[in-house]
Amino acid sequence: MAKSMSQPVAKSVAWIASLLLFVGGFYTSPGQAGDAAVASPEPLATAVAVEVLERGGNAVDAAVAVAFTLAVTLPDAGNIGGGGFMTLSMNGATAFLDYRETAPAAAHRDLYLDANGDVMSEASLTGHRAVGTPGTVAGLWAAHQRYGSLPWASLVAPAIALARDGFDTPAWLVSYAEDIRERFSGTTNFERYFGELRAGELFAQPELARTLEHIASHGQDGFYRGAVADAIVAEMERGDGLITAEDLADYKPVWRRPLSAAWRDYELVTAPLPSSGGFAIIQFLKMRDLLTSAFAGLAHNSPQYLHLKAELEKRIFADRARYLGDPDFVDVPLRSLLTENYLRERIATVNPIEPSITESVRGGLEPRHTTHFSILDFDGNAVSNTYTLNTDFGSGVVVTGAGFLLNNEMDDFSAAPGQPNYYGVVGDEANAIAPNKRMLSSMAPTILRRDGKVAMVVGAMGGSTIFTTVYQVIVNLEDYAMDPRDALAATRVHHQLYPVNTITYSPTTPLPEATVAALQERGYVVIPHDWEFGNVQLITVDAEGTVRAASDHRFQGRASVLAR
Ligand code: GLY
Repeated sequence: MAKSMSQPVAKSVAWIASLLLFVGGFYTSPGQAGDAAVASPEPLATAVAVEVLERGGNAVDAAVAVAFTLAVTLPDAGNIGGGGFMTLSMNGATAFLDYRETAPAAAHRDLYLDANGDVMSEASLTGHRAVGTPGTVAGLWAAHQRYGSLPWASLVAPAIALARDGFDTPAWLVSYAEDIRERFSGTTNFERYFGELRAGELFAQPELARTLEHIASHGQDGFYRGAVADAIVAEMERGDGLITAEDLADYKPVWRRPLSAAWRDYELVTAPLPSSGGFAIIQFLKMRDLLTSAFAGLAHNSPQYLHLKAELEKRIFADRARYLGDPDFVDVPLRSLLTENYLRERIATVNPIEPSITESVRGGLEPRHTTHFSILDFDGNAVSNTYTLNTDFGSGVVVTGAGFLLNNEMDDFSAAPGQPNYYGVVGDEANAIAPNKRMLSSMAPTILRRDGKVAMVVGAMGGSTIFTTVYQVIVNLEDYAMDPRDALAATRVHHQLYPVNTITYSPTTPLPEATVAALQERGYVVIPHDWEFGNVQLITVDAEGTVRAASDHRFQGRASVLAR
């Protein structure tokens, strides 16, 4: 059936933990041309990637191993019960893999409306009916089938060891689980699996280990058919969920043409629909360059800079809300939305002084989790991967007996086209629920290439803040000549059309009071974002070939550069 179906390589957790000594910090010293690099949101996952690359694995091998490891060590967002996107530069060519969840065949556009036609706000967020058919395992399998060089089972093995033997529970995981417990209480089995976490104590997940063993032995079929699929279907039946055995057996990831654009000296390669992320980054960067004279000389994060940025964000989010959805279901005029003529029309209405009046179109307000990792191998191949359960710990539903969390990605659909949903967002037709349709995303795994070679691998978490974050990192590096550490450390600022004229900033690195006051004078509401966003994982390769890696210091990740 598949290549590389050998038995898992025996791994012990002690051995994986010993590798932590060799992985870097948030930021590591620059490497040299030809070095490899990893930036991931969790240290054990970075250690696993380092080991795979040093064993001769390529960027996809490392990505597969990291993704399975994060499903164990970062259970709030790493997953096998969710979905995601992978942007690749392999052997000189680019590719994009869509392994987004799909609406189960029984889903319909009024799924989250009550008898009066009102949105049942929690139904798309918590519990069994919030779950889309997972895509992660099929996606990782497809990537490995096309590009993998090491045996599949050997790449799942570190995750199996960490699930079976356990790892020291970090304090952040205890606190994340405590924060969410109340929301899931009484409606899901979350407490049973994540209710006993204690910082510093071993956290073993034997059911998850067995699930991963099925996947190691049987590849994609180990998840979508057989015992694990049966457990998912049984879990759905317990909680009135929609996913059936047919949904699982029918799930297919899609190789799509990546969205790409020439931008300055770069070929920018990023996520196409059903993500809005790539579209948004291209609109952002191109509109900014069309406004070069307006931006010229502006200090980083000065009031005028932030005002102009918010003007661009307003227009991007309005387009996102109006037009974007799954391209297999709706016609999206994407090319038209990215032409220079169109973008010139859009910037013509930018108000240089005051916030433009927010029109009756609306933007997306999305919830907070998702996770990203970036990998560069010794041959210059790169993987930029963002995957998600949607919000922290997804739907809160753990597949009983199989030990993994299921997503609540159904909330990324517009619950009721034409009516505000739980977050005050009015959904549009293009993103209405339909059977087997993919919900609109903001994920933006991105690669920049210079002369056909990888120059940057970047992505972030955080719902609708994802692409505004990626944009800021690119601009910090390119226009403000920051090094990767400073580009990530700088205060991040976000606006998304609604709430009206509201600008939010990273809560742990606030804007200076004088900047806040100057923006308030122009009519903006300027407040800290409700939660820390970004968790950017960045790799850069400069024109001389110097490799740098950085992991967002606001979170728990690790970056590592591996000498050739
Ligand atoms: N669930 C977050 C996103 O896909 O944008």
